[in-house]
Amino acid sequence: MVGTGPESAPPPSMLEKGGTHGGKTAVVVAVLVVIASIAILSLLLAILYYYYIRRRVGRRSDDEESKESKDATLLPAVVGGRTEAQVFTYKQLQMATNEFSPVNVIGHGGFGSVFRGALPDGKLAAIKQLDRGGKQGDHEFRVEVDMLSRLHSPYLLELIGYCADQDHRLLVYEYMHNGNLQEHLYSDGTCGNPPMLDWGTRMRIALDAARGLEYLHEFVDPPIIHRDFKSSNILLDQNFSAKVSDFGLAKIGSDKVGGHVSTRVLGTHGYVAPEYAMTGHLTTKSDVYSYGVVLLELLTGRVPVDMKRPPGEGVLVSWALPRLTDREKLKNMVDPVLHGQYTMKELIQVAAIAAMCVQSEADYRPLITDVVQSLVPLVKHRMCSKVTSTPNFHHHIVTLKSSSIDSGSSG
Ligand SMILES: Nc1ncnc2c1ncn2[C@@H]1O[C@H](COP(=O)(O)OP(=O)(O)OP(=O)(O)O)[C@@H](O)[C@H]1O
Ligand SMILES: [Mg+2]
Repeated sequence: MVGTGPESAPPPSMLEKGGTHGGKTAVVVAVLVVIASIAILSLLLAILYYYYIRRRVGRRSDDEESKESKDATLLPAVVGGRTEAQVFTYKQLQMATNEFSPVNVIGHGGFGSVFRGALPDGKLAAIKQLDRGGKQGDHEFRVEVDMLSRLHSPYLLELIGYCADQDHRLLVYEYMHNGNLQEHLYSDGTCGNPPMLDWGTRMRIALDAARGLEYLHEFVDPPIIHRDFKSSNILLDQNFSAKVSDFGLAKIGSDKVGGHVSTRVLGTHGYVAPEYAMTGHLTTKSDVYSYGVVLLELLTGRVPVDMKRPPGEGVLVSWALPRLTDREKLKNMVDPVLHGQYTMKELIQVAAIAAMCVQSEADYRPLITDVVQSLVPLVKHRMCSKVTSTPNFHHHIVTLKSSSIDSGSSG
């Protein structure tokens, strides 16, 4: 009993020594196993995560690719759940224009020829055939369709749809029966030529056009600078209500800084604000200047630049500015066909608006909203007696912005 006692058992010191060594090894091994497991697990997780991310990225680029290819086919822009622009086949537009017959040509511009056409539903349209090809042209066309599909105002020309069949790029706009303002201003009014416009109609056109710009400057975020506002881009419907056109194509041009620059991108001679011409610095006030030039055309019946005129009279703005603030000279500068149709008070008011718009200092020009406000009473006054209104416009205006309702309701 005694022999089986403590003597047969290893001495406590030995026990302690031997036990500590074995235990330490075990602990070290255990720690190593844990570390190795964690490392392997982390590696596995990292590999799994890597493949997960790769799959996601792959899927996303697939999505983007399919989105791109959808864009490339130019599906109609859908805004608020409704289709905004119709898609036409080239064949449909060929039929609409009688194979793009020269007799249906209604104009030529910087972007190609414009044809009159009857759409499959019988509606008349103006069909603009873009003659610029390539990737850049294609991109511009896509942006144009996308942007115009989202802009809606009774004072802007409506885009009905487009055609992007193969290499063909066409834009289909509502048809404006009375063509552009320029044709009327410089017509002699004789048989076969566009009728001349009276004072009341000119004021109404001035107000409509100002509201078109007001929409672009004030009710679109970010604002759109037209940058090619001129009398040939103001179109007239059968009631001589005016709509501003070509705001989409002009804006798109603005993205091409340093790119190939067409004359349209720089605006049109005689309408371009001096600071924009000199520095390229473009603001909404540049449009206000161009608007002022159009107002001067309406007032005087003179073209913005006419070098056939006597010295000092060739550039409309330079000729008109000193006369606009001189009562006697003012009467003599008005288009002679308007004599007897306006009061002196009306003339002075319009002249004051024009003078402010064409100031060389951009900051001193009014906002186009101020121009609208100033013109409203002039047109309102006449509306009571003579000028026919366009009732469907009232509804459209209400759908814009509440601040436009007041000024819009008189138009
Ligand atoms: N929707 C339309 N309804 C009736 N006529 C139109 C319409 N769009 C254009 N036109 C006519 O076609 C002409 C050419 O238009 P376009 O916009 O291509 O050129 P522009 O306005 O003369 O010059 P720019 O290319 O510098 O704008 C216009 O001046 C106008 O007479
Ligand atoms: Mg145009």
